[in-house]
Amino acid sequence: MTDITAAHPQDLTGRAALVTGASRGIGFAIAAQLLARGASVTITARKPDELAAAAERLAAAADADRVLALPGNAGSADAREEAVTRTVERFGNLAILVNNTGINPTYGALMDADLDAVRKTFDTNVVAALGFVQLAHKAWMGEHGGAVVNIASVAGIRSSGVIPAYGASKAALIRLTEELAWQLGPSIRVNAVAPAIVKTTFATALYAEGEEKVSAAYPMKRLGTPEDVAGLVAFLVSDAASWITGETVRVDGGILATGSLGSA
Ligand SMILES: NC(=O)c1ccc[n+]([C@@H]2O[C@H](COP(=O)([O-])OP(=O)(O)OC[C@H]3O[C@@H](n4cnc5c(N)ncnc54)[C@H](OP(=O)(O)O)[C@@H]3O)[C@@H](O)[C@H]2O)c1
Repeated sequence: MTDITAAHPQDLTGRAALVTGASRGIGFAIAAQLLARGASVTITARKPDELAAAAERLAAAADADRVLALPGNAGSADAREEAVTRTVERFGNLAILVNNTGINPTYGALMDADLDAVRKTFDTNVVAALGFVQLAHKAWMGEHGGAVVNIASVAGIRSSGVIPAYGASKAALIRLTEELAWQLGPSIRVNAVAPAIVKTTFATALYAEGEEKVSAAYPMKRLGTPEDVAGLVAFLVSDAASWITGETVRVDGGILATGSLGSA
């Protein structure tokens, strides 16, 4: 029977989250959303000054005790270890992991793709995400449970022609999400989200031909905002999603429903 006196199922009070790549864009919006729902949050990014400024903005909106900023490259095993260890030390748990860091250094024809750049793309977008899950499992989730969300992309679901190596890496991340969900259930849930074009620094090249022109192909007639993605991630890590695992949820303004990926 429904318990009408229970706390809101999306309340995250007492849980600590690690959000990678969160000094701006989607990661920052996710961190803000998790904080607003009561979680404590560690954010990472490579550039220390931008990360510190982001942490200040988050602390001003929530409270400074619930925000920790740890500069580091997601591709570095040492940086991953530090982020996980210090999150547990500072907040006493690591119930939520959001693998948000993603890079896209190569565009266009795969026959011309620089293999070092492709390797780096897979290393950052897929291998580093697995590395974070391994560490979170060891440090906290293996014993106590938790929720992981990997930030994939519609480019991991349908070919774009424009960003194929990146798309292949996000497809691998989607498969990894399913494999992890199977191996880590029932105490750890692992899901992914697949955004279409969201207006961030990362995506500016994808709508360089004009935002109005690109968004015309979307049923929702606009591009995404970081907050569009953040609300979904906050739901997926919460108890409201307690029977959802191994899923990749599209948050794409309907673009995949059109059968095309527009210009991305
Ligand atoms: N925007 C879109 O249209 C879109 C669509 C689908 C999926 N996505 C995915 O969403 C995620 C976030 O993208 P975004 O659009 O929010 O990008 P963004 O605005 O460029 O932000 C990226 C964030 O990640 C950090 N970062 C980048 N490389 C890193 C690394 N190697 N290690 C640690 N931190 C790193 C950046 O800070 P530093 O530069 O200081 O490291 C920044 O905080 C990515 O996984 C991307 O693939 C984006």
